[in-house]
Amino acid sequence: MELIDAITTRRSAARLAAPGPNEAELDTLLDAANRAPDHGRLRPWRLRVLDASARQALAQAVADARRRRDPAATEEQLEKEREKFLRSPTLLLAACVVRRDQPKVPEIEQILATGAAVENLILAAHALGYAAMWKTGPAAYDVAVKAAVGLAPEDHVAGFVHLGTRAP
Ligand SMILES: Cc1cc2nc3c(=O)[nH]c(=O)nc-3n(C[C@H](O)[C@H](O)[C@H](O)COP(=O)(O)O)c2cc1C
Repeated sequence: MELIDAITTRRSAARLAAPGPNEAELDTLLDAANRAPDHGRLRPWRLRVLDASARQALAQAVADARRRRDPAATEEQLEKEREKFLRSPTLLLAACVVRRDQPKVPEIEQILATGAAVENLILAAHALGYAAMWKTGPAAYDVAVKAAVGLAPEDHVAGFVHLGTRAP
């Protein structure tokens, strides 16, 4: 697919079905992400494909965070929160771990570079025939949710990137 075609035809997918990208394709997506413009070549982004157990831990942390925000949430609502992180074929965590010892590259620039990496990744996924949905929501800013995926409170969740095959 030509680059301009990929950019102009990419659309997020609210519903995703199997298959997601295979291992070799995921490597290609990560290579594409890693070619993002990056002031100082700091590579502040962390792109991690979450395996089943990491997804379970994340889904539970998200439900717990929802319960803390909204103590009246029903079991059904909490199950829906969990389900959001379990249903797509592939879930990738995109985070920005800011290098704060680099005064020439302020935090905003490192976050921008991370966003560029994510865009590269989802465009590359589209070029390979997959669809994506880049999401955040309140969970992305919750310290306990960050901890559940190995991030420190000061790290940024750039997004939860769901990947798969577009479903009707
Ligand atoms: C940083 C970031 C976070 C986002 N978070 C959400 C989200 O939590 N929920 C959502 O429905 N869309 C979210 N979006 C928007 C979708 O990924 C998507 O871009 C939007 O629905 C428009 O669809 P399109 O990509 O097909 O133009 C987010 C986008 C960005 C860049």
